[in-house]
Amino acid sequence: MSCTEKKFKLGPFDVEHPFVLAPMAGITNSPFRRLMRRMKSAVVISELVSANGLEYGGQKSFDLLKFHEEERTVGLQIFGEDTDRLVRACQHVERLGADFVDLNMGCPVPKVVKNGGGSAMCKDIPALAKTLKAMVEGVKIPVTIKIRTGWDETSRNALEVVRVAADAGVKWVAIHGRTRAQGYSGLADWEFIGNVKAKSPLPIIGNGDVNTPEVAVERYKTYGVDGVMVGRGALRNPFIFEQSMALLRGETFPVLTAERYLQLLDDQRVLLNETFDPKGAMIHARKFLAWYSAGFPGSSEFRKKVFVIADGAELWREAFSFFEAGTRQRDFKYMSEPFLMGGHG
Ligand SMILES: Cc1cc2nc3c(=O)[nH]c(=O)nc-3n(C[C@H](O)[C@H](O)[C@H](O)COP(=O)(O)O)c2cc1C
Repeated sequence: MSCTEKKFKLGPFDVEHPFVLAPMAGITNSPFRRLMRRMKSAVVISELVSANGLEYGGQKSFDLLKFHEEERTVGLQIFGEDTDRLVRACQHVERLGADFVDLNMGCPVPKVVKNGGGSAMCKDIPALAKTLKAMVEGVKIPVTIKIRTGWDETSRNALEVVRVAADAGVKWVAIHGRTRAQGYSGLADWEFIGNVKAKSPLPIIGNGDVNTPEVAVERYKTYGVDGVMVGRGALRNPFIFEQSMALLRGETFPVLTAERYLQLLDDQRVLLNETFDPKGAMIHARKFLAWYSAGFPGSSEFRKKVFVIADGAELWREAFSFFEAGTRQRDFKYMSEPFLMGGHG
């Protein structure tokens, strides 16, 4: 059977292919998730939302859980340390109608781990077992988790976490191939992810430092993982999911045209304007345009302009002409040097 005919499965979901956008705080909000589903991310996941924030009725937390039908298959990610609150957060996510709930167990940020949330959850396996079981029993929708390889070099217990998660009824584990102690330094350890996958009773989604479609497909094939998760790479190359899918199917992906790039930008412009007030839309537009522009000729001057232009319409006009020139001249390459070396997972 060729890859074209092959149906892929991620846990309980049928998907077109195994390449998934990683959750990123301040980035994978509803309009970007919609855009990335259009750009073929197999599923999408929200940024982390605090179970404590939901408990105390923080409007910001509730706003972060809003999603659009177009996003399906969509998961909402929660974090916290208190089992009962996490269960109630899962139930809230279920009431909202999301397709699955994802627990953040990878966040390295001191404010989160000092309370026992995020990546600190992998330190107490018996407590984790109880929490995961309670979450799974508390809802009908699938529960998934996202972890790191371990707390530090001497305690890389991802396989133990995966086994506990399987016993609890979790549906998949996404593994960012770094320890908590590493933060974003060094490289994601895909050998380690592959070894966990080889012994895992659960589907494993590997994650870390996948910046090109070639690397995405190579990771998928070499390490036998069920999925490959791409975070920062999609901010340099928003076409990475459809390109990876084409490559896996043995198709050469079409040359990226100016028309295609401008369509992506126009979709993003409309989605941002639909979701945020003009100031909010502008803040998000600036960030994405700056990330996309890396590797295009004149990107540093463009980035300077992006942050001084005060009018939304003018910003997008400038962006259209910048990306049109780069793509028409075929004078760009997606950058893969490290950037955004910090985050919540
Ligand atoms: C700015 C930023 C925010 C992030 N926020 C989250 C988050 O909310 N939840 C999560 O599980 N991981 C979060 N992460 C981690 C990513 O999902 C991913 O594990 C990490 O960036 C490594 O993958 P990459 O090399 O493909 O970017 C964040 C990463 C970055 C850079």
